[in-house]
Parts: sequence; structure tokens; C-alpha cells
Amino acid sequence: MGRKKTLLLNTNPADLKKAGDIIRRGGLVVFPTETVYGLGANARNPRACAGIYAAKGRPGDNPLIVHLPDPFKIPTLASEISPDAALLIEAFMPGPLTIILPKKTNIPSQVTAGLPDVGIRIPSDPVARDFLRHAGVPVAAPSANLSGRPSPTSFEMAWEAMEGRADAVIRGGDSSVGLESTILRLSRGEVEILRSGKISQEDIARVLEKKPFLAEDSLDGPPPAPGMRYRHYQPQAELVLYTREDQLPEVDAPEERIGILALGPSTHIKDPMGVPLIRARDVDDYARRLYASFFVFDKLGCTRIYAFFPSPEGIGQAVRDRLLKAAGGRFAEPPSKT
Ligand code: TXA
Ligand code: MG
Repeated sequence: MGRKKTLLLNTNPADLKKAGDIIRRGGLVVFPTETVYGLGANARNPRACAGIYAAKGRPGDNPLIVHLPDPFKIPTLASEISPDAALLIEAFMPGPLTIILPKKTNIPSQVTAGLPDVGIRIPSDPVARDFLRHAGVPVAAPSANLSGRPSPTSFEMAWEAMEGRADAVIRGGDSSVGLESTILRLSRGEVEILRSGKISQEDIARVLEKKPFLAEDSLDGPPPAPGMRYRHYQPQAELVLYTREDQLPEVDAPEERIGILALGPSTHIKDPMGVPLIRARDVDDYARRLYASFFVFDKLGCTRIYAFFPSPEGIGQAVRDRLLKAAGGRFAEPPSKT
């Protein structure tokens, strides 16, 4: 792939209009959302969508989510909106939720990787929505990382990943959620969570008055979302998970450079003696800072990152999912079954 000259755009109306023009002309624009930065293209333009796969090095059988500025536009993409879908749209959209519905036939197969359904998301981030309104077409967008790497949650991360690959990058703020959207499939009878996120299983159960099926739990058999087949979210450093701070190694004279991502007040870490330590206040703060911490530790040349493995309440379930994939299941000490 030839290197592109990448335009840096700000969030003023003139620049967002430019971003919209680039999308309509078939270009690629990186834009901020409340979950992670996305790499967008006109979802109606098969060549533009093919450009996304090339820019990310993404396998062609992994479908893209389509973004809209407003819920009332969902019927332009979906052929059918079930009563469950209507309840979820009302409760959570705009917001960090993607729903998979049966697709209308005019969506190119490059977007859905040949599947009969389409993932639809309406971000709540005001810059994202202004950009999508200026685009005036549905925008197909995966996370703006190279395939397999952590998703960008800041402008710096997005620029580093996509400079030379996208036509423009919008300089927004840091993503407030920090993990990718919850993906719910509603097109195959059952309500299935294909990827956990900020909108939790309990949140969905409350609205639908029934518990959705957590597909992440079924590790046998073929992956339910094509994207679940691939390695994901990996920093350059080796990632090791821990559940108690006394599992951390003595760090006085490390021959390898380690970084520590901790949660809550310290129970064990004394003076970290020059070891980079990032300590999140609570699990939402931890989710928000997870990928940014990987970025910082990689920049510092860490060869190993120890990250706390939180309990599954709220966004904790999504953090656990990302950590398990990023670490390839590696723990400092095998986690207890209780
Ligand atoms: O928060 C997010 O969802 C971000 C922002 C940019 O909106 N986007 C994002 O896209 O995370 P991506 O492509 O990195 O992850 C989308 C996941 C992939 O694992 C893909 O396989 C799955 O969604 N997916 C998309 N359409 C699908 C479909 N029709 N059926 C099953 N899985 C689908
Ligand atoms: Mg992704």
C-alpha cells in the first residue's frame, strides 16, 4: 500500500465539513467516538470500504460496523426492526452499543463480509455525530488500529496507527469509555452478546426483561462473530495478568523493564522504584485507560506489562475479555475458580 498524505483536521465546523467531503469522495477518515477512534469510509462505496481492509491489514472475512448520526436512520440499513431491537434503540442509542439486524440488500458485501445482517452503531460523542451528519452517508468503520493491535483511545494513538494510511485524522479528545462497543446480535432469534462493553449484560437484561446469551463464554466451536477468531488488542510487550498485588515480581533490580497497571488503593506495591505504574481509581477508569496504558508502556520500552484482572461487574466483564485476549490467557498465578 502506498503511503498517503494524511490531513490533520480539528473539530471546528469547517474541518468537520472537510472530513464529510472526504468520505463522500471515497476517502478514509479517522474520527473520535466515546468508545475508541474509528477508521471510516462511505458504506455505500465498495471501493472505499475495500480501502479500510487494506489500511488496517484486516482479513476480508471480518465485517464492518456501520455508523449513523441518528436512530431514526436505522431503517435505511435494516430490513426489519424487532420489538427487542426497538426497546434497545430507545434505551441505549446513541451510545456505546452496536446492534446486528437483518440487512437491506443495498449494503455492499464488502461491509458485511457476505453476511445477511449488518452491525449498526450510533455514537454519542458530539464530534462523531457532527462528522457523520456532514458525511451524509452511512459510515463503515472498524477501530482505527492495525489489525491485532489495541484500539486507539486518543488522537496520538490514532495518528500513530493511521498516519500515511488514512486521508485524514480528526483531532478529538480522549475516548470517555475506552473499550469498543457492546455488540448484540438480534438477527438470529436469540439475543446474543457477541462482544461485551460498557452496556453490560445486566443493563440489557433490565430493558428486555430477559437475560441475553453471552457468546464470549462459549469458547468451543466456531466463533459467533467473525472478529472473535483473530488475536486482538495486543501491546508489543508481553502481557501478564494478576489478581493480587503479592503476585507481582520483586522489581528492585529488574533485568527486564516492566510496567504495572493497577486498580484501586495499593495493597502491596511499595515504592515502585522507577517502575512505570498506572493506577486506575475504579473499573470505569481502568477501562478508559487500558489501551492508553499499553501505548505508554510500549513507548517506555517495557518488555512485560502486569495488568490487574478485575471482577466481572459492569464494564469489568469487557475489561476481562480484552485482557484475556491481549494476554493470550497468561496469568502470574493461575486464577482461583471461586
Ligand atoms: O466501538 C466500536 O464498536 C468501534 C467504533 C469505531 O465504533 N468499532 C469497532 O469495530 O470496534 P471493529 O471492526 O474493530 O469491531 C467490530 C466487530 C468485529 O469483531 C466484527 O467481526 C463484528 O464486530 N461484526 C460486525 N458486523 C457483524 C455482523 N454482521 N455479524 C457478526 N459480527 C459482526
Ligand atoms: Mg477492532
